[in-house]
Amino acid sequence: MQKINKTIVAGIRASGTPHIGNYLGAMKQFIELQEDNECFFFIADLHSLTTPFEPAEQLKNALNIAVDYLALGLDPEKCTLFLQSQVSEHTELAWILNCITPLGELERMTQFKDKSSSTKTENINSGLLNYPVLMAADILLYKPYGVPVGEDQLQHMELTRTIAKKFNNRFGEIFPLPKAVTNEKALRIKSLTDPEKKMSKTGDEALLISDSPEEIRRKIKKAVTATAADGNAPGVENLLLLLEQFGDEEAVKHFRSEIKNGTIKYSELKETLSEDIIKYFALFREKRAELLNHPDQVLSVLAEGAIKAKSRARATLEEVKQAIGLL
Ligand code: TRP
Repeated sequence: MQKINKTIVAGIRASGTPHIGNYLGAMKQFIELQEDNECFFFIADLHSLTTPFEPAEQLKNALNIAVDYLALGLDPEKCTLFLQSQVSEHTELAWILNCITPLGELERMTQFKDKSSSTKTENINSGLLNYPVLMAADILLYKPYGVPVGEDQLQHMELTRTIAKKFNNRFGEIFPLPKAVTNEKALRIKSLTDPEKKMSKTGDEALLISDSPEEIRRKIKKAVTATAADGNAPGVENLLLLLEQFGDEEAVKHFRSEIKNGTIKYSELKETLSEDIIKYFALFREKRAELLNHPDQVLSVLAEGAIKAKSRARATLEEVKQAIGLL
């Protein structure tokens, strides 16, 4: 039986080894979305050219991302996974959209302002300015219903809608307006060593999804559980939140009641959490190791994905070209 299908598009930006905050924020959602939707997921390898890069690292980074997603459960039978640079329609549509996007809209993007003020002048290229236009093209080519993104991408989503409206008004209704799909839970995962801050990727504050069981135990053992003067213990809350995600409800209830009774042993909470996380990612670690040994399999998934994506993207681009008077 056919389920109700909605088209979903998401771009994945290469940004080092994912941690469990990234997993709970985006990756897990992708894997769930593929079940009832028509999903186009791509690695945004053209967007990664906007910041300084090493040619030798480019494909390696992209493959590592693909390996992680496939090992976590993205299934090429259920979704289309590809490299943005292999579907040239993305850049073709981006050019056309550039020509209807007011410069002022791009200059006022927060991400552009942040990046260009923190980057050496010689590294501010015009790709950085046009980044959101390529993103709009990435999305609009597939006429999706929704786009799963983090909070930091909401402004880009708004611009995508603005560009789509502008195009439709002038050339006819070609693009449905895509919605941003955000996931609140993701925003709450904190650093293990400084639980006032969001988890990011430096040192022992982050649990990487590829960490070995030993690393997981070691990092969780070191996690901060201190109670502040106001009686709050954000580190403990963070561990409980993780237990809620990776363990079972009973365990969460058990530790909460021990906290209330003052009988909690943090070492026990940490041991339970470590073992649950280790178990949760066991299959992932196994599949990941296997795919890393067979990059040819990953490349062939990406090549097939590109063919599928291209045929969809081509159809939209033909419509667009016709609408604006190109052959
Ligand atoms: N800009 C997005 C990010 O940094 C990545 C991205 C590129 C994207 N193209 C996209 C996300 C299209 C969603 C849809 O996370």
